Order: sequence, then structure tokens, then C-alpha cells
Amino acid sequence: MGWHEGDLMTHPKAANHSQIYMKSGDTSLRAFRPTDIGAFRRWWDNFEVTQNMESGWRPSTEAIAGSMTDLVEADDRAIVFAVEAGAGRLIGSCGLYEIFWPGRRAEFRIMLGEPDVFGEGHGTRATRMVVEYAFKRANMEVVHLGVNADNVAAVKAYENAGFVREGVRRRFVFAAGEYHDAIVMSILRDEYLEHFAAG
Ligand SMILES: CC(C)(COP(=O)(O)OP(=O)(O)OC[C@H]1O[C@@H](n2cnc3c(N)ncnc32)[C@H](O)[C@@H]1OP(=O)(O)O)[C@@H](O)C(=O)NCCC(=O)NCCS
Repeated sequence: MGWHEGDLMTHPKAANHSQIYMKSGDTSLRAFRPTDIGAFRRWWDNFEVTQNMESGWRPSTEAIAGSMTDLVEADDRAIVFAVEAGAGRLIGSCGLYEIFWPGRRAEFRIMLGEPDVFGEGHGTRATRMVVEYAFKRANMEVVHLGVNADNVAAVKAYENAGFVREGVRRRFVFAAGEYHDAIVMSILRDEYLEHFAAG
């Protein structure tokens, strides 16, 4: 399908760029670090970022930062990436969560936190890279997610990366003062291999 730009970075030059792990166009993924938590808290507290989400419903705290650090460093049920734009600007995070290794199943989540880069394709490219990572490196069978049905950019980014709609959870998300339906989406390993992996 032609989108397969994700490049598992094995080239020595990768080390010169803040430990980039995957790169697609001007979007890169690297491991999320404890020093990124300050930015994460700023994103979490920014209504422009979280208006379509349930995250951010209460102010971020040290405890939230601590649980994020635990998740990133010590919990094998999550693989969290930092998203960078261009030459190393931290713009968000994404990754696999709630990983159930015996069932090879994981939930995809993403939060770009710098509104000035919304709509530039970073969400689509980051999602595609994590999907590629999920199937080619982490050997998942299914990657799933839930999204506010009114979050048009998110739904499109996920569809761009091969997620298909499974169903609707009615009034499942409370965001910005209203209940919204949630769309449940997933991509299966076979679908990824059939439609996307060949490039
Ligand atoms: C939602 C999010 C991941 C999308 O990433 P992005 O980089 O802004 O989106 P992209 O540039 O990849 O655009 C994806 C598609 O949505 C469209 N789009 C982007 N912004 C849009 C908007 N405000 N309204 C409608 N469509 C929009 C793009 O044109 C593109 O469509 P196309 O594939 O038909 O060309 C990102 O904006 C984000 O993290 N926002 C804040 C947190 C959030 O909502 N996370 C998702 C929680 S489930």
C-alpha cells in the first residue's frame, strides 16, 4: 500500500540522534524517558490536547508522574515511546499498553501534546510505526483501541494505519462536558501482513 516507511533503525547514525528507534519522514520514535515526564504533565493539563479524551480530567500530580515512570521503566505490560518531530523536538507519546503476552494482545494509545504540530501527519506516522513495531518486533496478534467517535483526526490517523472499526460503545467517553460514543477499532496480524507489511 506504499506507506511502509517505518525504518527499524539499525544504522550506526541512529545513535547520533537521541537514540531514535524508528523513523518515518520527519517523525521519530524513541524510548520515553523519566525526564520527559515534565512535558507529559504539561500536555495532560492542556485542555486543547485532552479535550477529546478522558485523560486530563483532573490535574496531573507527582503521583501520576510516578505511575508513568513505573510504567515506562518497570512494567512489561507497556512499551511507551516518545514522539519526536524533525531534529529532536519532543511532541508527544504513544505506545502499547495493557499488553497481555499470552494472548499477544495490546492496546494502542497516543497523545501528541504540542497543538502547533497537529494535522502535520505525525499522528498517522507514529501510529503506523507502532503498528509495525507491534507485529514485527513484539509479535502481537491483535492491536486494539478505543477512541472518542468525535475525535475525527484520531479516527482517520488510526484508519490510515490499518485499524478497522469493530463497533461502538454508546456514550462511553465523557469529555469536554459531554458524553460521546467510543469507536472500538483493531488491526490483526494477518491484516497488517496482507495489506501493509509488503510496502
Ligand atoms: C489525534 C492525533 C493523534 C492525530 O494526529 P495528527 O498528527 O494531529 O493527525 P494527522 O496529521 O496524522 O491527520 C490524520 C487525518 O486527520 C485529518 N485531520 C487532522 N486534524 C483534523 C481536524 N482538526 N479535523 C478534522 N480532520 C483532521 C488529517 O487531514 C488526516 O486526514 P487524511 O488521512 O484524510 O489526510 C493528535 O492530534 C493528538 O494526539 N491529539 C491530542 C490527543 C488525542 O486526541 N489523542 C487521541 C486519543 S484516542
